[in-house]
Amino acid sequence: MKKLWGGRFTKSAEEWVDEFGASISFDQELIMEDIEGSLAHVSMLAKSGIISDEEASTIIDGLKQLRKKAENDELSYSVKLEDIHLNLESYLTELVGPVGGKLHTARSRNDQVATDMHLYLRKQVKVIIELIQEMQEALIDQAEMNIETVMPGYTHLQRAQPISFAHHLMAYFWMLERDKERFSESMKRINLSPLGAGALAGTTFPIDRYVTADLLGFEGIYENSLDAVSDRDFILEFLSNSSTLMMHLSRLSEEFILWSSQEFKFIELDDSFATGSSIMPQKKNPDMAELIRGKTGRVYGNLMGLLTVLKGLPLAYNKDMQEDKEGMFDTVKTVAGSLKIFAGMIQTMKVNKDHMEKATKTDFSNATELADYLSDKGIPFREAHEIVGKLVLTCVQQGCYLGDLPLAEYQKANPLFEEDIYVVLDPVTAVKRRNSAGGTGFKQVAIALEKAKALVNNK
Ligand code: ARG
Repeated sequence: MKKLWGGRFTKSAEEWVDEFGASISFDQELIMEDIEGSLAHVSMLAKSGIISDEEASTIIDGLKQLRKKAENDELSYSVKLEDIHLNLESYLTELVGPVGGKLHTARSRNDQVATDMHLYLRKQVKVIIELIQEMQEALIDQAEMNIETVMPGYTHLQRAQPISFAHHLMAYFWMLERDKERFSESMKRINLSPLGAGALAGTTFPIDRYVTADLLGFEGIYENSLDAVSDRDFILEFLSNSSTLMMHLSRLSEEFILWSSQEFKFIELDDSFATGSSIMPQKKNPDMAELIRGKTGRVYGNLMGLLTVLKGLPLAYNKDMQEDKEGMFDTVKTVAGSLKIFAGMIQTMKVNKDHMEKATKTDFSNATELADYLSDKGIPFREAHEIVGKLVLTCVQQGCYLGDLPLAEYQKANPLFEEDIYVVLDPVTAVKRRNSAGGTGFKQVAIALEKAKALVNNK
């Protein structure tokens, strides 16, 4: 098969060399974007008088036919033709004759491929934003059912203070809100047109870059042709935003895995998101959560990979840059899949409210309440801390909890303790009383939930 750029060559490469250099096995994913970019380019060529209207309509007609075929999965691609751009052009000339060769006037694969990837990411980032939103909605629904579900809150994975389960879930809502913001803000940089930058230096043809930018729905154009064809920071930004998002998902995965263990028993994941063991009949493994935690690694890897590919590249295009695609496609797939799984897992999980609440009664996570109680009565907090610390030690030595100590024992430690400490020690009271803005008090959680719902509904 003759290469589309074969003019200056006397010898063709061996098949395995072609195979090594080709990107068609993965960049066929860009077929729709490649056609969309080509349609805009050819319309602009006619509008600027570079090709005739008749030529343009023949090419447009051919491209549309190919789009239909692509939609029906009727195109097959050749490694000999290297990538999606050359495969498509070859199909076009086959279909409409030599006039198909005019499509590439005033264009290079360098601005073409960059355009395709901007179009691709623009579409995918929109989908990811919607999927984040769906996961946020699942968090809201589950939180609404659990405002008054009390659980131990942890620091250092040690019981710290009792909290509302809804409050814990909603922490992830706000992380996701920032993730969503980061993706939306990156749109400004994704939505720029590199088309018309040519190979690197612009073109001698009287093209109009604003026409193609407009036709493709871009908000503006890259101001510098060298930058336009060699920049991949819009992909890096996507990979970085995806890494942060995956880090959040991975932390929630870890909590779901812990919470569904026999040791915690706080939640039970639905059968549809768990798997069994081939040997141990009793097992129900939180595979999906584990897999998302694991897949976080590949997204970080994709980010590091592209950063490393780009770091030493002189301007402008270098073939190294073909390595930008697989990590991007893989990240899109991984992030979208993880978000979908999470929305389902959250919607269907069973919350063991009783078990959570019971846990708050068999620990010392109410110790801060006692210290606050004393400092409310005028004892400096540091001193109160010391007094309660000693009471905890007494309990540890006697094998009981703070609620089990008789009042006499408390009054021996400090006469300011009165009968009402037993109410204060109740974990539900403890949560209720944390009514500072953004705190875990039931009222605050309800307020935060309303804010969250308004955010989600307004988008
Ligand atoms: N397949 C190439 C890539 O993905 C397209 C651009 C090729 N440009 C070139 N001058 N060889 O990067």
